[in-house]
This record gives sequence, structure tokens and C-alpha cells, in this order.
Amino acid sequence: MAEPVKAFVTGFPIRHSRSPLIHGFWLKAHGLEGSYEAIETVPEAFPAFIASLRENGYAGGNVTIPHKEAAFALCEAHDAAAEGIGAVNTLWFEQGRLHGGNTDAYGFAANLDEYAEGWDSADTALVLGAGGASRAIVHALKSRGFTDIHIVNRTPARAEELAAHFGSGVSTHGLDEAQGLVAAAGLIVNTTPLGMEGHGKDGLTLDLTRANPATIVTDIVYVPLETPFLRTARDAGLKSVDGLGMLLHQAAPGFERWFGLRPEVTSELRARILADMAK
Ligand code: ATR
Repeated sequence: MAEPVKAFVTGFPIRHSRSPLIHGFWLKAHGLEGSYEAIETVPEAFPAFIASLRENGYAGGNVTIPHKEAAFALCEAHDAAAEGIGAVNTLWFEQGRLHGGNTDAYGFAANLDEYAEGWDSADTALVLGAGGASRAIVHALKSRGFTDIHIVNRTPARAEELAAHFGSGVSTHGLDEAQGLVAAAGLIVNTTPLGMEGHGKDGLTLDLTRANPATIVTDIVYVPLETPFLRTARDAGLKSVDGLGMLLHQAAPGFERWFGLRPEVTSELRARILADMAK
């Protein structure tokens, strides 16, 4: 009998990762014998960890903060999203070579497809933050046809670097300019940790009452599920989409690569993760 397929998630720290719960849920739901474990790897040990994957019998795995760029550099081949973003969150072997993909942009778009159909009919987006998550989201926005993407960031140089990476259609602004960009935005995305549990009680302070009523507001933070920012959007009568679906959807392509079956993001899975978050 073939050995059960083994996969992992690695990061530093890793104990808060919900990926083992997601993949464990799918393995059980499909009666598969594989495993998916969380492995903490300090940055200094990451190259050796990657080099030992094959001898340790892994089919592949996920890579999270702070290893996504290092993983990109260590892969022998990349999918188009990883190339576009310059970071890898999913690893697998293909014809003996280590491949790296990036499913964050897919997860972001799939979440909005599910909860805010037609979100990509807008041209103009306002993106708060210019870190790794922002990079994946700008890639998704460009892929879905957004032609006017405004990045607002506390550190201007970081936003400028991101804009230079993506080229035309992406402009940068300081935090003080965010409010003035609200009215024209069809989509507003928070990619910063502001509003996340443990980051202080206050979230982003944008007045959304003058947004276009059709504007969609989304957050990549999902603890709490409704961030103060999303609450402000709801109070202003805007459609708001929480970040949990992005986490769930980004996991599905990796599961399919390792375990050979495309899992579904169901309300049961969502409820399972929410119950875990409530603990
Ligand atoms: P991730 O990989 O999750 O995107 P990151 O790369 O650390 O994480 O990026 C976090 C983003 O949130 C950055 O845009 C950061 O702004 P800076 O580039 O100025 O650091 C932004 N951010 C974090 N804390 C912030 C705060 N208190 N106020 C404003 N922006 C903040």
C-alpha cells in the first residue's frame, strides 16, 4: 500500500496558523489518509528545511510569514502568480523539481467572487498598506482588470517600491491622502494589521459615509471577523466582506496539488474555523 501523502505549513511563529485545521477538515471530509502538520522554522534554518523536504517524504506544503520571499528564491520553477507577486506560499514537486506557487491572489478574488459578485466590474481600487499581502492583492486587482489602483501607506518608500514592481495603473499616496480617495473607489481593501485582535482596539479611521453606495469594502484581517473598519463600512450602508474566505480559498489549490482532489470551501468549514477562533 502507498504511504499516506504528507504536507506541511511552515512559518515563524506558526502556532496560530489555522491551516492544519482547514486541511485536517478536508482530509477527514474526503476520507483521505494524508497528513498536514505545522512546523516552526526560524529564518536561518529555512534553506536547510527546504533542502530536506524530499528526503523527509513531503509532497509539498505551505509557506507563510516570514518565508514567502525566501521560498520564491529556493524554488526551481514558479507559477504565473508567484512570478507576478515575487513570493511563494505553496510548494509541490513536479517531475522531481520543487515548484512554487502563490494562491493568495486567487484566495482574495475567490472570496469576493463568493460574497460580492460583480466586484471586479469597478476600475478604481483603494488599497491600504504596502506589505506582502498588499502585493498579492494588487496582483489580483490587475489580473481582474482594475486600471486605477491607489496604494496608501505609512512608509512612502515601500508603496513606491510596490508600485514600481507593478508598473502602470498603480499610484501611491501617504496616509493623509486616503480620505480624499474614498469617493472614487469602487473597492476599498485593508491589507494592514490595523483592527486585528492584539493590535489595539482601534482600526482604521476613514469616513466612509461619502463613498459611492456601490462601493465594496473588504479586510484581510479575520480576527475579529468584523473589524472596526468593516463595521464602519456596514454602518455607512456599504457591502462589506470579511477576510476569512480569503484564508479558506487560498488553501484549496495546495490541497488539490498534494492530495489529488479539489476541496470545497463550505459553510461547515467556515463554522469549524469560527468555533476554533471562539475558543
Ligand atoms: P503582510 O505580509 O501581512 O502584508 P507586512 O509586510 O508587515 O505584513 O505589511 C504590513 C502593512 O501594514 C504595511 O503596509 C505597514 O505599513 P509600513 O510599510 O509603513 O510599515 C502597515 N502597517 C502596520 N502597522 C501599521 C500602523 N500602525 N499604521 C499604519 N500602517 C501600518
